[in-house]
Amino acid sequence: MSRIDTEEEILELLRKSPNKYVSGEDLSRKFKVSRTAIWKNIHSLIAQGYEIESHTHLGYKLLSAPDILLAAEIRNGLNTKYVGQNMYCFNEIGSTNDFALKYTEKGVEEGFLVTAEKQTHGKGRLGRNWISPPNLGLWFSVILKPRISPFHSSKITFISGLSVVDAVKKVTGEDAVLKWPNDVFFRGKKLCGILTEMRAEMDVINYLVIGMGVNVNFSRSDFPESLKHTATSLKIELKQEFSRVKLLKEILKNLEDYYELFKREGFDPILNRWKDNCATLNTRVKITQGKDIIEGFAQDVDDDCSLLVRLDSGIIYKTVSGDVS
Ligand code: BTN
Repeated sequence: MSRIDTEEEILELLRKSPNKYVSGEDLSRKFKVSRTAIWKNIHSLIAQGYEIESHTHLGYKLLSAPDILLAAEIRNGLNTKYVGQNMYCFNEIGSTNDFALKYTEKGVEEGFLVTAEKQTHGKGRLGRNWISPPNLGLWFSVILKPRISPFHSSKITFISGLSVVDAVKKVTGEDAVLKWPNDVFFRGKKLCGILTEMRAEMDVINYLVIGMGVNVNFSRSDFPESLKHTATSLKIELKQEFSRVKLLKEILKNLEDYYELFKREGFDPILNRWKDNCATLNTRVKITQGKDIIEGFAQDVDDDCSLLVRLDSGIIYKTVSGDVS
């Protein structure tokens, strides 16, 4: 058993005895290591942010766990079969998507999760960068292997957006909405962005990496000037901090559930639910595609995830990408 495994198991034992001491002797007997080794593990946990009371005669008592993206925290009570069951949690990385894409070269099981407290080169859509300061948001990527054509990858992005909307509802009790093609908005501003990338052949996806960025505990001053009027966080809107670990676990659970629904019943139930939660539909929209701007009425979303816009001339314009405002 590695040091990390022992650490997680000690933690699990402490969690099972809330508000009670677990003796060092019991722990050392159970894990077949010395009491000094147990003590070292406890200190490592404390260094990671766990509050553990230690008493010479009574042992150790877990007082609180940190809201940090640690494997032990994410796995604890995560009710999924494979999404988020195996992972790498980085303190700092360039981009979780870049890491995950590279990692797929080795062959990796479906549902593998990559998280980071901070990204130094967080990537957004259309070559933009994604502001990812430490401890304020969720910056993570999930690797899936859907047996679908690369042309249908947007369906998995839709699944991801829905997972965030449902998770926000569960954790805050408030409604977030979807904005075509793949943003989650909260009270009129952007709360979450999704960047889906893949390794694929002409007709089949080998690996899909879904990268999600959720602004959880930003204060207004944490955003750069350029984003202050368009982006928001749960903390700004609801005037309280939220547990990132809890929100992440909800998103992962929803992701697995919707993905399984998609595999079982196809895209229809997903698309219907997506449309029900979409704020873009039935509004006038302006779509920027490079230098072109198209204006019209957002009439529907097709089953290939494209937006159908009724132009003022009456013509229906079908678009697969663009920035909607
Ligand atoms: C967008 O432009 O709206 C998409 C933003 C996606 C950001 C996330 S953060 C985690 C993952 N890693 C990245 O580099 N980007 C995505």
